[in-house]
Amino acid sequence: MSPHLVFAVVLFVAFCRSVYSQNLTQAQLAIVSDRLGEGASHSWEYGTRAEALLEYTASTFSVLSSSPLPPPSTVPSNLTDALSVVFNISKTIVAGRANSNGNITGPQPLIQDSSAGDPASIGVTVLLANWTGQGQKDGLDYAGAAEDQLNFLFQDVPKTSDGALSHRVDQVQLWSDFVYMVPPFLAYYGVITENRTLVSEAYNQISLYRSYLRDPDANNLWKHILLGSSGNDEGHWATGNAWAAAGMTRVLGTIQRSQYDKSLANEQKDLANWIQEIHGGMYPLLNSNGLFRNYPDNDTTFYDASSTALLASTVYRLSYLWNVHTHLPLAEQCRKALSSSSGAQVSFGTTPSPTSSSSSSPSATSTTPPASPSSILGLDHFTSDGWLTPVVNPDSYGSQGTQSPEGQAFILEMQSAWRDWVADGAKGANGSVRGADLSVTLTWLFAVFVGITVVYR
Ligand SMILES: *[C@@H]1O[C@H](CO)[C@@H](O)[C@H](O)[C@H]1NC(C)=O
Ligand SMILES: *[C@@H]1O[C@H](CO)[C@@H](O)[C@H](O)[C@H]1NC(C)=O
Ligand SMILES: *[C@@H]1O[C@H](CO)[C@@H](O)[C@H](O)[C@H]1NC(C)=O
Ligand SMILES: *[C@@H]1O[C@H](CO)[C@@H](O)[C@H](O)[C@H]1NC(C)=O
Ligand SMILES: *[C@@H]1O[C@H](CO)[C@@H](O)[C@H](O)[C@H]1NC(C)=O
Ligand SMILES: *[C@@H]1O[C@H](CO)[C@@H](O)[C@H](O)[C@H]1NC(C)=O
Ligand SMILES: *[C@@H]1O[C@H](CO)[C@@H](O)[C@H](O)[C@H]1NC(C)=O
Ligand SMILES: *[C@@H]1O[C@H](CO)[C@@H](O)[C@H](O)[C@H]1NC(C)=O
Repeated sequence: MSPHLVFAVVLFVAFCRSVYSQNLTQAQLAIVSDRLGEGASHSWEYGTRAEALLEYTASTFSVLSSSPLPPPSTVPSNLTDALSVVFNISKTIVAGRANSNGNITGPQPLIQDSSAGDPASIGVTVLLANWTGQGQKDGLDYAGAAEDQLNFLFQDVPKTSDGALSHRVDQVQLWSDFVYMVPPFLAYYGVITENRTLVSEAYNQISLYRSYLRDPDANNLWKHILLGSSGNDEGHWATGNAWAAAGMTRVLGTIQRSQYDKSLANEQKDLANWIQEIHGGMYPLLNSNGLFRNYPDNDTTFYDASSTALLASTVYRLSYLWNVHTHLPLAEQCRKALSSSSGAQVSFGTTPSPTSSSSSSPSATSTTPPASPSSILGLDHFTSDGWLTPVVNPDSYGSQGTQSPEGQAFILEMQSAWRDWVADGAKGANGSVRGADLSVTLTWLFAVFVGITVVYR
């Protein structure tokens, strides 16, 4: 082999590494997913886990892939294992809902909760279980459970005078989290049952929530919690902004892949603009370490890797779904920071006392390798047993926590979004459409270089 060719190969490998380095491995992600399966114990954690698993392991059935909606009504044989993990979530919830709700009939949430919105996050998976005929195998009434959840939202949940559904059961209170929990369920329900009104209602709820929570005095960041008798949080909680952007992204993907793509074109434009509006408020506040603070505009609050991961996923998705690449370089900075391994665990000043894991259910991803601590050791933003760090406590949004199931799901969502974006040509890696062109140009230059080297060696 000529020295030139060796040099060319070295250059090419270096080029590839510069594009693809700092990638979490499948084994590491399996551990992240195992911790998620063990830790998920709240309504929104079940729903978010199901969405993350669909995106990561069965993307044909996710609303964020390029596959049309409604999805296939039969499960392809190569996705049977992946989907069985997801369907086990809907099965457990639907089988347990009578007990959870005190055996009532009629409108009821999928699982009992003081949050009106969070249980609906499981609804997409319940609809998918119905659509793919899981009830014929296990005798459960998935369609009935989804319908009861829908009717509960419209009949039992209090709302503002202009129609924004509350995120709480006992009073009208609006949380930015709602946008991830409820509108994606309404949109998916509408697409599956061919009810355009419901798809529009998903958009309408988002529009209403935005009208209350968007803060024009803070570069359009969303406030976290408004209205209600107590427990307001007018701060611009990072995860809340990410929930809102991610919920809008799910509704955008659902409409775009559906039979309502054309008739709801303006709604999609609004959603894409509103996602960018949040990106525009958040990313100027990103810290040089690649993480947001728990309240991004408050420097006394701790760094939070979970919101950082979820928001990054929405940047890749917006590029993939809507050809907007503005914040790609910053999402890449976040992803690389969260995937980095400098060899030593990075210290973040505060060491919160460990809280016990809320659930001890065995791992659902039994096909993945065992959680060998050594295989994830060395990642700067994961503990040796695979928990993302530092993270906000998912049960107490003002405090730092140790184990965040939602944070684990956000890593899978970030990784899936990144993977699909890379497969789509990594458009805008340099902050504009020309980034992709640059990669192509460099690759061609390399090919010509190799050609010349080979001919003249
Ligand atoms: C990144 O890692 C994932 C998971 O290990 C793997 O499937 C994928 O091929 C990797 N992508 C690149 C571009 O290296
Ligand atoms: C499953 O098989 C289909 C072809 O039938 C293929 O297009 C798809 O990529 C496969 N999916 C996975 C996850 O292997
Ligand atoms: C609901 O029904 C189950 C099974 O019939 C029973 O064990 C349970 O006590 C009932 N719960 C309530 C609150 O009535
Ligand atoms: C349940 O699935 C069937 C198709 O198998 C579909 O016709 C029906 O609309 C679905 N119901 C709900 C509530 O999604
Ligand atoms: C669409 O869904 C709404 C809410 O459940 C319901 O009131 C309406 O009757 C449905 N429309 C059709 C055409 O099924
Ligand atoms: C910033 O965060 C600290 C710590 O949570 C809090 O005490 C303070 O009120 C916050 N400042 C503003 C302006 O919200
Ligand atoms: C299904 O979920 C239940 C409840 O979380 C769990 O106990 C069980 O191990 C799971 N089964 C499989 C096959 O994943
Ligand atoms: C453009 O993007 C590629 C791929 O992410 C990167 O390797 C390269 O350094 C970037 N170039 C500039 C000038 O930012």
